[in-house]
Amino acid sequence: MAINSTGLQPGQGAGEENNRSQLAPTVAAALSAVSLRCVECSALYPALEAGQPRYRCDCGGVLDVEMSPRLPAAWADDTLPAGAGWRQLFDERAATSPIWSIAMDRVLLDYSGVWRYRELILPAPDASIVSRPEGNTSLYPVGIENCSASRSGHRQIGLYAGLERFYIKHEGENPTGSFKDRGMTVGVTMARMLGSTAVACASTGNTSASLASYAAQAGMRGIVFLPAGNVAGGKLAQSLAYGAETIQIAGDFDDAMHLVEQVCEELGIYLLNSLNPFRIEGQKAIGFEILQQLDWQAPDWLVLPAGNLGNTSAIGKAFRQAYELSLISHMPRFASIQAEGANPFYRSFKRGFATRESVQAETVATAIKIGNPVSFTRARRVIEESDGIVESVSDDEILAAKAVIDRAGIGCEPASAATLAGIRKLVAQGVIRRDEHVVGVLTGNLLKDSKTGIPQEASGVVIQPTIEAVRRILS
Ligand code: F0G
Repeated sequence: MAINSTGLQPGQGAGEENNRSQLAPTVAAALSAVSLRCVECSALYPALEAGQPRYRCDCGGVLDVEMSPRLPAAWADDTLPAGAGWRQLFDERAATSPIWSIAMDRVLLDYSGVWRYRELILPAPDASIVSRPEGNTSLYPVGIENCSASRSGHRQIGLYAGLERFYIKHEGENPTGSFKDRGMTVGVTMARMLGSTAVACASTGNTSASLASYAAQAGMRGIVFLPAGNVAGGKLAQSLAYGAETIQIAGDFDDAMHLVEQVCEELGIYLLNSLNPFRIEGQKAIGFEILQQLDWQAPDWLVLPAGNLGNTSAIGKAFRQAYELSLISHMPRFASIQAEGANPFYRSFKRGFATRESVQAETVATAIKIGNPVSFTRARRVIEESDGIVESVSDDEILAAKAVIDRAGIGCEPASAATLAGIRKLVAQGVIRRDEHVVGVLTGNLLKDSKTGIPQEASGVVIQPTIEAVRRILS
């Protein structure tokens, strides 16, 4: 199969010849069990085709990975209840502590919060996997009832939301500070399996930071397209520091997204936006990890911020798969929260999804400043199948919620706070009941954006180094 992965100068990163030789029979065998299904017209394609990788159906629709997960024989036991073998397999792997001083790749894979679930993610040969490892992020109990008195700071979040049993899943604790690492480890692994030497994405900042890190680890050329002036400082710094070629375009994210699709097709660079269905497969692990942390008890609601809608699609798919495999006994309802100035999904939802809306996006939460989301149809399916809801919150509501999360000592970037703002609104409306069991996802780390919504004046107090001066300040 000829994958044209352009661009590497001789001697730079991994060479073409080296990579071609990686299209090993093990790769072909692994991917032979994987298909791609169009979410619009249901056309089916093999995961491996001659020529360039496929990201869209011939009809223009986005694609969804299909495969039939097989429980390894050692865990298959017909006498156990359905789902028990899977739970046992994942629980055993989660209990595996890595011994960092010894090169034990499989142990490291078991430790990854993505590859621990590898039968449900991607059948990749171990040697192809590019992993930091990622995942293993905290699930903080913050509800009025499930947060102990000794953590009264965290409990403020539950009080603000008005929820008794409430958990915050902090994906900002991933290696590059956002949930993007979960999809990126799979995307870059796929790039390596296909022998690509260059990878690219358009980004509001977090995907690019993650791509830059994983491309550097894999010795690939990383190229990122960013909307000029609309990427938070911490994210831009990451892309530059990890060594990605950082191209700022005079346009917004939607323009950058359109451009990168053309660039990747023309130059044969592997595309790593969530348009790439293998990214979505990795992000499913957020859902599996939440379930495992809750001892495989599904919550009533799963709430998350929504921009390009990859995450809604991915976590929704994870819960559906977990249900189909009897890992859990019911599906949670999904609530995707958009910023008021960037809410095309919300607008469509309000019209019963009769039309697909797009907007000229504007919000302080730059991560979700997206007017024409790529994964619209995938996410719509999740909302419809889960009897879910889409809500919209103002920038003021986002910043107020961010202040609560920050002051609780947890912290997040602005887009993440849309989750809490949305929950508060839905609880006030009576859509989410106070006693329902809710998991809210925070998507990015506080340090990503050190300006928006952070009281800058608090850092301005300078005093003489004397005890008198301190007394005056603190009295
Ligand atoms: N939260 C954060 C912190 C994000 O970076 C993003 C998306 C989202 C939420 C929305 O997730 O697109 O799956 O609905 N950031 C992308 C990027 C667009 O380029 O980093 P989504």
